Amino acid sequence: MTKQKLVEQIDYYESLYDPTLQPGRISTRPPNKPNRSKSEPNPFGDPDLDASSEDGFITSYHPARYEKGFLLTSLHSFYEQALLTDVLAKVRGGKEASVYRCRAHPATGLEFVAAKVYRPRMFRSLRNDAIYREGREVIETQGATIRQNEGREMRALRTKTSFGQSLAQGSWLGYEYTALKKLYAAGADVPRPLGANEHAILMTYYGDANLPAPTLVEVELSPHQARALWQRVLHNVELFMQHGFIHGDLSAYNILYWHDQMTIIDLPQVTSLGMNRNAFLILRRDIVRTAEYFSQYEIEIDVEKISRQLWARYAATDPLQAGDTPAQWDES
Ligand SMILES: Nc1ncnc2c1ncn2[C@@H]1O[C@H](COP(=O)(O)OP(=O)(O)OP(=O)(O)O)[C@@H](O)[C@H]1O
Ligand SMILES: [Mg+2]
Repeated sequence: MTKQKLVEQIDYYESLYDPTLQPGRISTRPPNKPNRSKSEPNPFGDPDLDASSEDGFITSYHPARYEKGFLLTSLHSFYEQALLTDVLAKVRGGKEASVYRCRAHPATGLEFVAAKVYRPRMFRSLRNDAIYREGREVIETQGATIRQNEGREMRALRTKTSFGQSLAQGSWLGYEYTALKKLYAAGADVPRPLGANEHAILMTYYGDANLPAPTLVEVELSPHQARALWQRVLHNVELFMQHGFIHGDLSAYNILYWHDQMTIIDLPQVTSLGMNRNAFLILRRDIVRTAEYFSQYEIEIDVEKISRQLWARYAATDPLQAGDTPAQWDES
């Protein structure tokens, strides 16, 4: 069976059984009956596989039938790398990915880790992504620049591993992971990325054994907390811009709040500040959406002024000239 057919089948079964999916986003047409031949291995793993693998990777979490094989395939490399030992629960099934709470391997020094497993359909370009992609192609053709400072991702790109191929395709996952690494190292309030493969990203988990951290929309803040958080959000937007990035989907839905600290998540559409003609509009939209949430706490926010000030301060620098482009993201 072709990869395309398999993706259609996974989409279809998800649409039937996954209550977190919004209706109307995917086809409800039943896919052809699976007809797998021995010469064509299922690239997403065997859906009939038990939630365990031969080398002892077990999941206490009982995945739905349609997600079993894909889940194990997606997380197995993290098990091999001694990053996790078990999948404990599904935190949330989002539009683009499902996030799972996993037991961290003791070597990590953490109790839990979060695994963001991209839905197979994300490997096709379903959503209107041109607005974010602009600038990425330019980055990818800067071959000479890439080799100057070659990290693991860039090596993968050159040697055409499947992870490398997903980066070469300008995959959402590859961008989310490399941006997380760069921004975490820069001190931004983003999860610490612990690993990635072609299907999933592993990062620090926020929350406890009972509940994941709420998003900002789910918490009630005091006026004092709200003011401090708004300043912290702006500080992070600045940090992103200093490193050539705009989040691209920033809002109270993509900010977690845990132990009085905020964490910005969900970065696959991170946008290049200097190489995307829509960058100002994307920045302004990030500020508008986030300000919408904080305005309920009667914080006066002049969205136009803030957007223009930030733009004037940071966009004047062409990230290519500054030598701080995504083409030079390395393992930091
Ligand atoms: N590191 C983390 N720790 C705890 N929970 C997390 C973490 N990362 C993500 N989540 C939870 O998983 C949800 C989905 O994650 P994310 O927003 O990255 O994916 P998404 O597929 O883009 O989702 P959506 O379409 O809902 O925005 C988040 O809203 C949050 O509740
Ligand atoms: Mg999200």
